[in-house]
Amino acid sequence: MTFWLCSQLAAWIFLLLLPGLSDGGKLLVVPMDGSHWLSMRQVVEKLNERGHEVVVVIPEVSWQMGMTQAYTVKTYPVSFTLEELDGAFHEYVHSHLKGLPFPQNALALYNSSIAVFNVFFSHCKDLFHNRELMQYLNQSDFDALLTDPISLCGAIVANYFSLPFIFFMRGFPCGLHYTATQCPNPLSYVPRLFTFNSDRMTFFQRVENALVALLELGYCNGFYAEAMKLSSEVLQRDVSLLDLLSSASIWLLRFDYVLEYVRPVMPNMIFVGGINCVQKKPLSKVRSFSPDYTFSNEM
Ligand SMILES: *[C@@H]1O[C@H](CO)[C@@H](O)[C@H](O)[C@H]1NC(C)=O
Ligand SMILES: *[C@@H]1O[C@H](CO)[C@@H](O)[C@H](O)[C@H]1NC(C)=O
Repeated sequence: MTFWLCSQLAAWIFLLLLPGLSDGGKLLVVPMDGSHWLSMRQVVEKLNERGHEVVVVIPEVSWQMGMTQAYTVKTYPVSFTLEELDGAFHEYVHSHLKGLPFPQNALALYNSSIAVFNVFFSHCKDLFHNRELMQYLNQSDFDALLTDPISLCGAIVANYFSLPFIFFMRGFPCGLHYTATQCPNPLSYVPRLFTFNSDRMTFFQRVENALVALLELGYCNGFYAEAMKLSSEVLQRDVSLLDLLSSASIWLLRFDYVLEYVRPVMPNMIFVGGINCVQKKPLSKVRSFSPDYTFSNEM
């Protein structure tokens, strides 16, 4: 199943990259750390296996994005340590457990999520300051860029080099994937994040939905303030969050209507399902529930 899913994803991207069916494409990948990368890695490996030239650009300090033999990796030094990254993340987790009353809890969560994002995002500045790597990327003549939208770094790189780009994502705050694509997003039956409403709302739930929608862009503009500063700096013009995202060619959505309420989407938004694409270990043959079952090591 997992294999099938990843093959499907790879097939989509494969089609996007190929001018003719015989020659491989050249893909730049700007991934996002953590579970995001675990999902993307399999697709990247598959694309590489199929003869595409894949270059993955990653910061030297990261949680999950280690070395591999399967495709080309370019790393760049960053201005933070793994301890700093861990520290910011622990603070973020801790802010969820403080049990503060409303609205302090919301503010504390917002603050700590901005703080962790800013540590995390600073690698993007380091990338842009790395002349040698930027020059290499410029000269490499990529056909397209694959990235996770949440980190925004891939989108900035794609805009900087005027590369067509593909988003591969599970979730995006503030429904930005719908706003950026100018997708119909009716407040009357599309519940906003954190409202816990369904697609059938009472009048008051709709009012609540409308209020949350009003807050959303402000929320994300605050959250992405650092990223927008860098974008405007490197692109040398005033850039809004939506400017940066709206030129994405394709949005590959790692979900479907099993977990989401039915809603309109745009033609360049493609459901690929699957949430996560991590290859599972096959079940051990030893493990069974027969009486002679012996506990094996890695339960
Ligand atoms: C959030 O951060 C701001 C600025 O850094 C600070 O003034 C404020 O006290 C913080 N609020 C909470 C609830 O942590
Ligand atoms: C890429 O290199 C070309 C040729 O050297 C140069 O003209 C162009 O400005 C560079 N583009 C970027 C985004 O650095």
